[in-house]
Amino acid sequence: MQAMQVKNDFPILQKVIYERYPLVYLDNAATTQKPRQVVEAMTEEYYNVNANVHRGVHFLSQQATELHEASRETVRHFLNARSTTEIVFTRGTTESINLVASCFGQAFMKEGDEVILSEMEHHSNIVSWQLLQARQGIRLRVIPITDDGRLCMDDFEKLFNERTKIVSITHVSNVLGTVNPVKDIIRIAHEHGVPVLIDGAQSTPHMPIDVQALDCDFFAFSGHKIYGPTGIGVLYGKEKWLDSIPPYMGGGEMIKNVSFEKTTFNELPYKFEAGTPDYVASTGLAKALDYVSSIGFDAIQAHEKDLTAYAMQRLMEVEGMKIYGPHLEEHDAVISFQVGNIHHLDMGTLLDRLGIAVRTGHHCAEPLMRRLGIEGTCRASFALYNTRQDIDALVDGIRRVSQMF
Ligand code: ALA
Repeated sequence: MQAMQVKNDFPILQKVIYERYPLVYLDNAATTQKPRQVVEAMTEEYYNVNANVHRGVHFLSQQATELHEASRETVRHFLNARSTTEIVFTRGTTESINLVASCFGQAFMKEGDEVILSEMEHHSNIVSWQLLQARQGIRLRVIPITDDGRLCMDDFEKLFNERTKIVSITHVSNVLGTVNPVKDIIRIAHEHGVPVLIDGAQSTPHMPIDVQALDCDFFAFSGHKIYGPTGIGVLYGKEKWLDSIPPYMGGGEMIKNVSFEKTTFNELPYKFEAGTPDYVASTGLAKALDYVSSIGFDAIQAHEKDLTAYAMQRLMEVEGMKIYGPHLEEHDAVISFQVGNIHHLDMGTLLDRLGIAVRTGHHCAEPLMRRLGIEGTCRASFALYNTRQDIDALVDGIRRVSQMF
């Protein structure tokens, strides 16, 4: 894969920031940039197709519906789900997790029942369950992590009891880059008769996902982290679960018949898709997945593994460098670091003035920060368009900032 050529598909990467050229964009775990193919397909749909889906007999509505449903099929294929009935469009990973917490919780959890999470979860996979806790009195059980940022799997097994109703766990940590052994987690949970939700926000852009091979019960991801538009994401759910939990929101499209006495709900997946869906974003998401597939995960993984290894090696040359998270083999394309006593916010702000975009702060993972005994980190996260030159620029930038302190 030629990352330099791939860069040409992303117009924003030509942008000049503070008279620096080219922009070094290393905040891909927050959101990725969008290739022309995605933006052009969405523009084309607004110009030539736009009409509400599933509602009109007229030409444009039919065409928009076909595009929207073709996108669902693209997602199904991308995840290797059994059927499009198992693919629910949401606004993103956060909404997908909230949907499961709320609807699964309503159907299957009562006071004192437990969900197992981990210490490295994003707030979206903590607070959604705390909302359920406030409503229904459920309990959160937390898998601890090792000092180098891996799950303590022995402790995980010990957390199960007759009150455990679901495990909800991130595939890849957005802070540490840890790739969790989700296949083992799912197998162990299933041995206890407990279903598993995987937060795939940070894994989906970097590795192939096969929900049938994983045997996960739910899988959530966001479009905007995989080169697609904002405002759209996916919840995969096994049909047996989606069938047995109530709808999330009420409104048009999610119903079969409505009367003041009794309303019946639509079939899957529409039961979970109240209101006008973002049918243009679904086109963009499908284009993004096609884009990723056209490059192929073999090439993407080889490239990103090389970049991550190179970045680790180069960053460790910097005096005072501390990198959080596990060793390279278990590390995805996210590196959180701290240099000496330089505050992460100062480091991030000054790197920005050099045209280098990284994220700073707690990364929506305050409990993890507390576990690590820190307030925040600087985080560099990579995508398929990043190059070794980007890493060199980052290391040079960090050195220049360090010299100012
Ligand atoms: N969850 C996103 C991140 O880690 C926003 O940056």
